[in-house]
Amino acid sequence: MTGSEFLSRSAEETIAMGRQLAGRLNPPVLVLLSGDLGAGKTIFAKGIVSGLGAGKEEEVTSPTFTLVHVFHNHFKVYHVDLYRVEGFHDLETLALEDVLAEPAVVVVEWAERLSLRTDWPSVHVLLEHVDDNTRRITIS
Ligand SMILES: Nc1ncnc2c1ncn2[C@@H]1O[C@H](COP(=O)(O)OP(=O)(O)OP(=O)(O)O)[C@@H](O)[C@H]1O
Ligand SMILES: [Mg+2]
Repeated sequence: MTGSEFLSRSAEETIAMGRQLAGRLNPPVLVLLSGDLGAGKTIFAKGIVSGLGAGKEEEVTSPTFTLVHVFHNHFKVYHVDLYRVEGFHDLETLALEDVLAEPAVVVVEWAERLSLRTDWPSVHVLLEHVDDNTRRITIS
């Protein structure tokens, strides 16, 4: 599903798409989520985290910075939300450099605010409102 565009007609469908992507993720990898308020970034993240078996859907909320889970002692899954992060100082306090020190799956909401340089492979996911319950999801 690389470089593809999908229409999701419900939150459940978006979770299912996150789960589907999870099956193709190999750490180290950054999953960069972008899209407006309420576009479904957190919903999509629920699918990724649960799809990886790292946590339950209800455990994925809107954290400032949460270590979601250690998956089978094998790799960690981080869910990072940069919405409230302003400027370089805030980003530094998140200690993302430490996060990137070992292979993990790092899911980032408001990824356009990430000013970090890394050579980790990344998957970009753009979520856009089409109407109340429909979202266009572009994965590249
Ligand atoms: N097809 C859909 N996919 C995802 N969410 C949908 C869909 N249709 C309706 N919704 C609703 O849209 C909202 C998406 O909220 P969510 O918290 O995931 O957005 P977000 O992009 O993380 O927003 P924020 O920028 O505030 O963190 C939820 O209330 C969800 O139920
Ligand atoms: Mg969110």
